[in-house]
Amino acid sequence: MKVIDPAEHPVPFVHRILLSGIAPRPIALVSTMDRDGRHNLSPFSFFNAFGANPPVVVVSPSYRGKDGTPKHTFENIRDTEEFTVSAVSYAMVEQINLASAEYERGVDEFEKAGFTKLPSEVVAPPGVAESPFVMECRLMQYVDTGGNPGSGNLMIGEVLRFHIRESAFEGERIDPRRLDLVARMGYDWYCRANGDALFELPKPAHNGIGVDQLPVHIRQSAVLTGNDLAKLAGIDFLPDADAVRARWEKLRADVFPGQSGPDQFAVELRTGNPRRALSALMKDWKAGMLPPEQVAIQLQRCAQAAIASGDLELAWECALMSHPGTVAAF
Ligand SMILES: Cc1cc2nc3c(=O)[nH]c(=O)nc-3n(C[C@H](O)[C@H](O)[C@H](O)COP(=O)(O)O)c2cc1C
Repeated sequence: MKVIDPAEHPVPFVHRILLSGIAPRPIALVSTMDRDGRHNLSPFSFFNAFGANPPVVVVSPSYRGKDGTPKHTFENIRDTEEFTVSAVSYAMVEQINLASAEYERGVDEFEKAGFTKLPSEVVAPPGVAESPFVMECRLMQYVDTGGNPGSGNLMIGEVLRFHIRESAFEGERIDPRRLDLVARMGYDWYCRANGDALFELPKPAHNGIGVDQLPVHIRQSAVLTGNDLAKLAGIDFLPDADAVRARWEKLRADVFPGQSGPDQFAVELRTGNPRRALSALMKDWKAGMLPPEQVAIQLQRCAQAAIASGDLELAWECALMSHPGTVAAF
């Protein structure tokens, strides 16, 4: 691992390193007004939610890296204690990039970036009508984390109103595909939360046995990944290895003599058929074509494919049987 001590590097370097690892970051398009009622709009990816009761967000307009002066957004929130945050969808990304330019104080970036003002109910700054998700916020407190070029100002705001586009809902729930939000990565990279980038992972319904309780030959597998192990470790109790062995002895007895076709195992695995891959493997195993260590590895590959296809029962059976000693004695 490359170890970096931030104290030994210039701030812009530290900034880039920090932002590459803390990614993707949601983007807040923050609308504020100065004491004279002039509008300001800028994007900030030092942004997140930090509680739901009350709903709290934090946005951090840093001191400018080049001269250490405060950003207009910081001054406006400090002075008026009000702001709105509009989430950024893919359809808005070029416009928010434009709004991030360092315009003079008093220049309205709604105008510059071509956005429309969405009237707020309880704060003065408007939201952005093009955004599918807008929050009206009141400053609770702010924390200056250094006062130097590049140091942050944590503007902690309570959310007083949400404005959410009707079409973002699928029944009672907001569907992320309908929001199509973008996030900021390191350097000039962005990320779009849509298509293949989205996946669902339900929370565990109960405490699993844990990776530490997996048999050693499974835990130390060179085939199974950390994600595979976590999936296996999510069960309530270890399956009975003797019962699995007895069942497999019967299975093996039913396998026709002979070898599987060339590459059949690999083809079945590649096409996501772990049960058929296992049949092919059993044939070669029974025909004495493979050394036990090789069978053990192939069984773990079957376990992995079974995990990927959602067949945890088969995954566990293959993983349990994949001990080289068990294979040799089988
Ligand atoms: C996607 C994106 C995210 C940004 N995030 C931040 C941030 O978290 N903090 C920050 O100080 N500047 C950030 N910036 C730069 C500000 O938007 C930029 O400095 C802007 O001019 C500030 O405007 P203001 O002085 O009107 O507040 C970001 C720019 C972009 C394009």
